[in-house]
Amino acid sequence: MTRAISLHDVSKTYARGVRVVDRLSLDIAPGEFLVLLGPSGCGKSTVLRMIAGLEEISGGRLLLDGAYANDLLPSERSMAMVFQNFALYPNMTTRGNIGFPLRVEDPQGDHGPRVDATARMLGIEDLLDRFPAQLSGGERQRVAMGRAISRHPSAFLMDEPLSNLDAKLRNHLRAEITRLTRELGVTTVYVTHDQSEAMSLGDRVAVLRGGVLQQVDTPRAVYALPRNVFVAAFVGTPRINLLRGLVRAPLDGAMTISLGKQYLRLPEPLSLDHQLLRVQQGREVIVGLRSEAVRIAKPSSARPGEVLLTGLVEHVEFQGHEVLVHFDTGSRPAVVPDLEAPRPAARPARRRRGDGTVLDRLRERAGALRAGPVVVLDEADEAEPAVAAPDDRLPGDLIVRTTPDIDLRHGMQVPLLVDLAHLFVFDQHGDRICPAPTRLPDLEE
Ligand SMILES: Nc1ncnc2c1ncn2[C@@H]1O[C@H](COP(=O)(O)OP(=O)(O)OP(=O)(O)O)[C@@H](O)[C@H]1O
Ligand SMILES: [Mg+2]
Repeated sequence: MTRAISLHDVSKTYARGVRVVDRLSLDIAPGEFLVLLGPSGCGKSTVLRMIAGLEEISGGRLLLDGAYANDLLPSERSMAMVFQNFALYPNMTTRGNIGFPLRVEDPQGDHGPRVDATARMLGIEDLLDRFPAQLSGGERQRVAMGRAISRHPSAFLMDEPLSNLDAKLRNHLRAEITRLTRELGVTTVYVTHDQSEAMSLGDRVAVLRGGVLQQVDTPRAVYALPRNVFVAAFVGTPRINLLRGLVRAPLDGAMTISLGKQYLRLPEPLSLDHQLLRVQQGREVIVGLRSEAVRIAKPSSARPGEVLLTGLVEHVEFQGHEVLVHFDTGSRPAVVPDLEAPRPAARPARRRRGDGTVLDRLRERAGALRAGPVVVLDEADEAEPAVAAPDDRLPGDLIVRTTPDIDLRHGMQVPLLVDLAHLFVFDQHGDRICPAPTRLPDLEE
């Protein structure tokens, strides 16, 4: 039996009124694999523990298969939980550990066949007679998983079960978890702060920030139609380029978004998306460009819908199958509060001392903004942020992904073609304006 899990305006408030989960509503279908994704401290584990019955629900309703379940004991919920720090019984073999929940349920029963079947499913038949101390980390995690599934629970609740493992094993077990949960068809709620894990595992991904649900959608839709700038920046590597822009009144008939020293000229007639920018004229916006929305190419090779920017190569990051080029375009990066999505590790910028040109001053300021504290968009334009340690600085304001055969070096001036079909624009509150919600209908699954 697999079950539907629904949360209706569920909140969690700790002593002194600290609310760590705020009116969360989610409907998880039977057999669905839902991932709770968000930065550290956003309330993911708290949500999972409330579903499991390990944490009291302060407000709202939890429904299991449509029935009110706030007050059910954990044992009455028939769910299995797998934690990051899985604790196996050290004095029991794999066989003993996997069979333990079965013996608790039915001390007299013959659980051998069920234990064997579980071990087969996880590929750990050879480890049945070993003790935890004789197993590797990945093997132990598989045993922990075996213990969780042997009882045939109606739902799995997994709290960062892979984060203690090395990258290779993590990828391997990721695939295994997908296969296993598909095979068992059991509703799964999986918590992680790792966006790539979330995207590869989830039927849907629910993004949390500060205890508040930001968006719940398929991985594809979360990536292609993020509801706000936080979701856009949390999902995808390298992180989406976020630049502060200013929507200008039409000049020579064309609408433009100014990006500091350069601007994006929106082609006429305006697309349906770009028409939405008319009401933003004179306002600051955040322009979002994923690294695949920009290509390095001659202006003469521009395709319809592509516009030109110029970038100064700051840093070239070789990744083997691809190259990430960090450009300085003289624009000002927008900084999103609360964000902990990993930025690609970059070497500290080798900053050339400015010779006092406008571009140099812009570059200095862009560097300071990047490294400084949270930038609030409606702050006075000229506010000088605090300058942080130079080592925190990331070179360039625009990262473009390209093939490794391209020969670019620090200091080169390069034409960049921006595909306006992949242009994101967010308003001052961080909510998405473009693409409009009605666009990319094939994604609104
Ligand atoms: N017993 C408690 N009393 C007060 N605050 C608490 C308590 N337990 C957790 N919190 C707070 O609730 C918030 C959410 O915690 P939670 O463990 O759910 O976060 P999380 O998203 O799982 O983070 P992580 O990714 O680091 O595991 C945190 O700010 C935490 O400090
Ligand atoms: Mg947690």
